[in-house]
Amino acid sequence: DRQKYIRNFAIIAHIDHGKSTLADRIMEMTNTVSERDTAAQLLDDLAVEKAHGVTVKSRTVRNYYVDDRGDEYQYNLIDTPGHVDFNYEVSRSLSATDGVLLLVDATKGVQAQTVANYRLAKEANLTIIPIVNKIDNLMADVDKTVEEILGLDDSFTEEEILKISAKSGLGVDAVLTAIRDRIPAPTGDETAPLKALVFDSKFDPYKGVIALVRLFEGTLNTTDQMLFMAADLTSQNKEVGVFAPFTTPLAKLQAGDVGYIVTGIKDAHAIRVGETITSVAQPTPAAFPGYQMVQPMVYAGLYPRGTDYKDLKIAIEKLALNDAAFQYEPEQSEALGMGFRGGFLGIFHLQIIRERLQDEFGLDILTTMPNSTFRVTLKQKDEMVMVENPTQFPHFAQIAKVEEPYVHAKMTLPNDMLNDVMRLAEGRRGVLEDLDTLGSMLMVTYKMPVSEIAYDFFNELKSVSHGFATLSTEIADFEASDMVRMDIAIDYANVDALTFVLHRFKVEKFAQDTVTKLRDLVPRKLQQMPVQAIVEGRVVARENIPPLRKMAAKGTKVSKKQEQLRRAGQAKSDIELPQEVFDAILDMG
Ligand code: GTP
Repeated sequence: DRQKYIRNFAIIAHIDHGKSTLADRIMEMTNTVSERDTAAQLLDDLAVEKAHGVTVKSRTVRNYYVDDRGDEYQYNLIDTPGHVDFNYEVSRSLSATDGVLLLVDATKGVQAQTVANYRLAKEANLTIIPIVNKIDNLMADVDKTVEEILGLDDSFTEEEILKISAKSGLGVDAVLTAIRDRIPAPTGDETAPLKALVFDSKFDPYKGVIALVRLFEGTLNTTDQMLFMAADLTSQNKEVGVFAPFTTPLAKLQAGDVGYIVTGIKDAHAIRVGETITSVAQPTPAAFPGYQMVQPMVYAGLYPRGTDYKDLKIAIEKLALNDAAFQYEPEQSEALGMGFRGGFLGIFHLQIIRERLQDEFGLDILTTMPNSTFRVTLKQKDEMVMVENPTQFPHFAQIAKVEEPYVHAKMTLPNDMLNDVMRLAEGRRGVLEDLDTLGSMLMVTYKMPVSEIAYDFFNELKSVSHGFATLSTEIADFEASDMVRMDIAIDYANVDALTFVLHRFKVEKFAQDTVTKLRDLVPRKLQQMPVQAIVEGRVVARENIPPLRKMAAKGTKVSKKQEQLRRAGQAKSDIELPQEVFDAILDMG
């Protein structure tokens, strides 16, 4: 009977459609927080979340809602990450709920992530409450937005779509009653063996790993011995509780509850989203399905620029503690010195880490051009290697096949921008998979290589569509691609930080652009120095860096020794490349 008064739900929406604002309003109207607290936007408190206006890490709040009949309900609001790079995390946090509020901005209508999030909710079999937001806005087109929502799902009816202003609070009362009336209460057996789903975790330097969980079966008391099934670890529980919105310890958590566990585990990376927790004394027979190890999709080098390597190291270690999806390892570059190779869920994730290093730690860093993973099959023994760093891309003579990861890229855009967007996607090796209408908008799906999306695609999409197009991606699979390695040699010595892996049909333009930039940027020496782009042993582009003074040009034979060394394959670069060179070529700006 206790569970009759519990509702576990999440708000899902496209970025900026008002998720945080509605969450604030709900907390306020249930007196969970005062109006003044919400001014600080409790759910969005990281500096970068502010800068991006999106939620990076999810947080969960228990609200107490007293309805018109005087009954008190526990409304557990589970906040989900706001970006598709975190799709897996979104799907796990949705599994912790029994229903979602699908929020659509009436000034924008249904957009790419509205659809992506709707699909995740549908796949998880959740009750969906469709809501039109921002009806107070002069630009709102409520009827059109309703039409688009109805177009999403045949089973939606016009009457069930709520119309609100999360900002002013108009209509939010109806949202609170709809949560009570439409979202099913949890039904797990409190006396069954413990079965809890970890949908988020954070690391506290003193307490260790704190897991956010939904209990589906059983009861968890403080001091119980717990078994983490995927990690195959046991640990004694230290504390359980809820955020209401501040940390509130409780004696126990029971089936249907959402709360936190101070796990007593000190290894920040031991517990992952999707983990199943059960009790050592009475374990559950089967873990939750669908557990995934986080798989970085995009890699890039992170190097200190002006800042100290040690400071960068400390900052990166700290960031990784609270972001299980961010992976890193030390990396040494001849040209850039000591740094790190980071692995990210996507380009947006990379940008967030970059900004956090800058904003939260005050570090000036250089990010090398991002690349995706390559799966290379070697001729010898049919061996397969995963390559995450272009400098480790094998010699072309050894390669039998190269594959790279692809995504389904869904874009929504106004009708008249179709040509521009198609041209852009096709220039990025996109293959059209689907074309559909969505109200007055079009929705196109392209299958595209991650490596093409990783580099600046989103910015270009925004630019060709004047900010109207939206993008959401979904991992597809690995596919064969004609990728080649391109090395850059300055005065016959390879510069390791300027090694790229790219598609053969991009080689010519990219090679010429790069050597031209280098010609203009590399500091001159007494002798003339060639800049060469080399692919499969052939020079595909070349420019000469002129000598320091015209007079010295006569003495270009100085590089004869270098030339000999090159033939012997031993040339070492003695050229100091200034940061601007790497900025111009590598940095994403
Ligand atoms: P992410 O965290 O990026 O997913 O954004 P969000 O969905 O949480 O959006 P947020 O709540 O931050 O709102 C985005 C903008 O829309 C803010 O400037 C809000 O003030 C504004 N906004 C939200 N709800 C309403 C509304 O009902 N009416 C109007 N006029 N503006 C609103």
